[in-house]
Amino acid sequence: MIAFRVTTLPSVGSTSDIVRERALAGEPEGFVVRAEEQRAGRGRHGRVWASPPGNLYASVLLRPKRPLAETASLSLLTALALAQALADAAPSGLALELKWPNDVLIGGAKLAGILLESLVSEASTPVITAGLGVNVAFHPDGLPYPATHLAEHGVKLDAEAVLERFLARFAVIYDGWQAAGFAPFRDAWLRHGHGLGGMARVRAGEKVIEGRFVDLDDEGRLVIETSAGRRVLNAGELFFAPAS
Ligand code: BTN
Repeated sequence: MIAFRVTTLPSVGSTSDIVRERALAGEPEGFVVRAEEQRAGRGRHGRVWASPPGNLYASVLLRPKRPLAETASLSLLTALALAQALADAAPSGLALELKWPNDVLIGGAKLAGILLESLVSEASTPVITAGLGVNVAFHPDGLPYPATHLAEHGVKLDAEAVLERFLARFAVIYDGWQAAGFAPFRDAWLRHGHGLGGMARVRAGEKVIEGRFVDLDDEGRLVIETSAGRRVLNAGELFFAPAS
């Protein structure tokens, strides 16, 4: 099973940059950087990820044996491992949900985000940094979506403890994925899936696709039932249409 080696630093630009530099210098997989704060934390789609002390900011170096095309599903599995780790420590009944492809929600509000980045490598195996931002002690104000944090729901874990629990869960899931891909985890993901069966709008590049979010396929791609038939999407940003 993969073994993780965690380095904790007080302040960095982005943990994913530190991991990337080490990856380029030949570091084996399992290297993890956690920072107390980030000065240039980044989210998906080039957004800023505000990173003052108190929350979890960490990145993990992976050198998966599976083809690069399959590695997008690691984003879903990172979120699944985090949800499982938090469910172990949360008061019963806490509604942890997974929003395709990379968010963990509580009660529809964003608790955590995952940023998967692929490094160009001369080696045949992909090189991936999986960055994890979890709102532990607070959530930033003024975000364009509802957000929440763990302490607000009675989860008494600090950032270090969240990371430790996450890594224990992720080690098992990652090994399973290395052996058999996303398919064995599809049902577990769908059990936590946010908005399943509801109307959704997906922004994929310049296009907006509207339809009902009906399923995930065996590679973790989103299956949307549109007026023109089923569409299978492997990238994009999912919005749920307001109930009408
Ligand atoms: C998102 O947009 O939802 C993803 C946010 C990912 C933030 C994490 S914090 C640790 C790692 N370092 C970064 O700069 N970003 C990721």
